[in-house]
Parts: sequence; structure tokens; C-alpha cells
Amino acid sequence: MLVRCAYLFDKCAMRILAIETSCDETSVAVVEDGTSVRSNVIATVEPATTEGGVIPEHVARRQVECMLPVLRQALAEAGASPRDIDAVAVTRGPGLLGSLLVGTTTARVLASLWRKPLIGVHHTLGHLSSPWLEAHPNQKPKTKNEPIFPILTLSASGGHTDLWYRTAHTRGTLLGRTRDDAAGEAFDKGAALLGLPYPGGPAIAKAAEGGDPHAFPCHLPLHGEDTPDFSFSGLKTALKYLLRDLAQKHQEPNPRDQLCRIWDLGFGISDIAAAYQHALCRHLTDRIIKALRRFPEAAEVHVVGGVSANRHLRSLLPDLCGNRVVRFPASLATCTDNAAMIGAAAYFLAEERGEEAFAPFETKASLPLEVVVS
Ligand code: KG4
Ligand code: ZN
Repeated sequence: MLVRCAYLFDKCAMRILAIETSCDETSVAVVEDGTSVRSNVIATVEPATTEGGVIPEHVARRQVECMLPVLRQALAEAGASPRDIDAVAVTRGPGLLGSLLVGTTTARVLASLWRKPLIGVHHTLGHLSSPWLEAHPNQKPKTKNEPIFPILTLSASGGHTDLWYRTAHTRGTLLGRTRDDAAGEAFDKGAALLGLPYPGGPAIAKAAEGGDPHAFPCHLPLHGEDTPDFSFSGLKTALKYLLRDLAQKHQEPNPRDQLCRIWDLGFGISDIAAAYQHALCRHLTDRIIKALRRFPEAAEVHVVGGVSANRHLRSLLPDLCGNRVVRFPASLATCTDNAAMIGAAAYFLAEERGEEAFAPFETKASLPLEVVVS
């Protein structure tokens, strides 16, 4: 068995075909040596409800339809045939079970037909590996230098908000996590309150352009408390009450008309969006700074997951982290869910865990990252 892993790493380049279908994306990528993105095709299922809600059955059915075209396109863009692929990797959890099964079933069939080893990958380990990915050849390149451990990583997406201290890809300690909503979820719920579309993160960021981030005072959650955790539900509630109070002050009793009335009265949505975005970002940076005081030896600070696409967050961090390298995924496509990050994580899993990376796995809707990183 050990021969298989050694053989893969002996090759001049290890090319992994990766599949990610944990939520509403169907993505297939070809990644070389955990860093070089040969292709990264992402198809997103349109939300089934106007609020951006996801109906799991609808999503899984669309993913079945998308899978083969996306797979063909990923191979074509990479200029690869099944012969050029050394291993197949797939997200095994956590996520929507029906969606995950579309991915893992496809990966199992391909691995068996093509006679390739199969690697099951934790979705969040994919996000944690995304800063190693070079930008797609067609996108703006980032400077090529390898991240250095130990690394403090904030992983913030629509489903989780975790802070990790890592000494290797699969070695580390979970320092803190959210006690209620995830950071991306707070953007999504805030956007819904402001009448903005889903996903809320990019919508709020756009609405906030030109707005004053200090237009409304916001209390930083858990600021004085001795905890590395996050909490976002209070900020969302504060936004709800701010909108209610603004509307009531101007005598608009009908909640449906409140938003229009607020904007009509000249309260810029940009100020409210900017203040809300600033408060969410300040809470994230506040936790990072606190953790850096505990782990001053951290050489780098990484921010990954959908929220890492946020420009305001990107602008706040470097000044707060001293002379440490602050790293984000190189392209927007590798911030949000994508298969390239799964290909990177699979490579590092095989590198650090050897044969264990190729062990049989179950597809699981709920899967703590601590089973992989410890
Ligand atoms: O990592 P991701 O694609 O999926 C999950 O694993 O959940 O993250 C999606 C989340 C959504 O909640 C979305 O609103 C948020 O990432 N997001 C952003 C931005 N782009 C996406 N949040 C803030 N600013 C952005 N530019
Ligand atoms: Zn994700």
C-alpha cells in the first residue's frame, strides 16, 4: 500500500482531479502539486427562493445535470485526459447530504473506471488550503512565495467561522468558533434586512461603497470578554432595531414600506451597509488580534472562506498584524466554494498523512474538522 503514495510523489507533477458539491456549487478542477490550478470550473445553482434559500432536493437534482458538462469542461480547460490524472479527490462533508452524494458517487465511479486512487477531503480543509493555490492562468497572478507555518487562520464562510492555530496542514488547534451565526450568514441576513439580494456579502460590500463606516455606532461583540469565540447574532439584531427606529422616527408603521421610507428620507443605504460591514469586519479582526497576543510566534495570518473576498476586511488587516505576512486566496474563485481548494487539500493530506489519505470514507452531512486537523 505504501508504494502507491510514494509512486504518486515520485512523479514530476502530481495531478489531482477534484470535485466539490457540498452546497449549491458543482465544481470540478485539475490541480498540480497542490498549488497550480490547471482548471477550476464552477457552476452555481440559482437560488430556488427569492430570499436566496436553498431547497436541497432541487440543488442536488441540478447538480446531477451539471456534473458531466462541468467535468468535461474542467478536463478540456486543463488540456488533460483521464490518463494524465494521478488521483481523484472529492469533498466528503460537511454539507447538504444529497449534494455531497452527487460528488462522492461521481468521484467513486471515476476512480474505479480510471483505476485511480480516491481521496476524501473535509470541505473546510479545502478552504484552509486555498492560500497555497496560484491564481488560474487567466486571472491576475499573485506573487509566488510559499506560506510558512505556524499560521493563524480565520476560516469564515456561510456555514462556519473558526479560528485555527496550525503548525502544519493537518496539525493544529481550534482556538475559537462562532457561538451563533456564521460571519457569511450575518452578511446574508443583514442583506435580507436591507432588501439586498443573496448572497449578502457581495451585495452589502457593493452597497457600502462610498458609505461612512462610522455613520452609526456599533457595539463590538464579546470585546471585553476573555474568549476566542465569535458571535454575530447581536449585530444582526442591532441592525434590525436601527432600521425599525429610523422608520418609527419618521412615522412609517407599515414594516413593508419602512425600508423605502428610510431611503426616501435620505438615509443612505450606503452608510448603513458600510457601518454594518465595518462592525462585522472589526469583530473578525478583533478576534485575530487577540489570538496573535496569545501566539506571537505565528509567522502568517490567513483569511479563507467566502468572507475572505471582502475588500474592506482585506484593507483592515495588514496594519493590525505587524510585520507578519497576511494572506488571502489569490482569486475570488478560490475564496468561495470551488474544487481547486479540494485538490490542494488532497495533495497536502497525502503528503502529510500518507496512505491514511487514501482510506475508505463515508459521505457525511456533519463532520467536525477536528477529525482531520489535530
Ligand atoms: O465559503 P463559501 O462560498 O460557502 C460556504 O462554505 O458557506 O461562503 C459563502 C458566504 C456567503 O455567506 C456570502 O455572503 C459570503 O461568503 N461572501 C462574502 C463576500 N463574498 C461572499 N462576505 C463578505 N464579503 C464578500 N465580498
Ligand atoms: Zn465553503
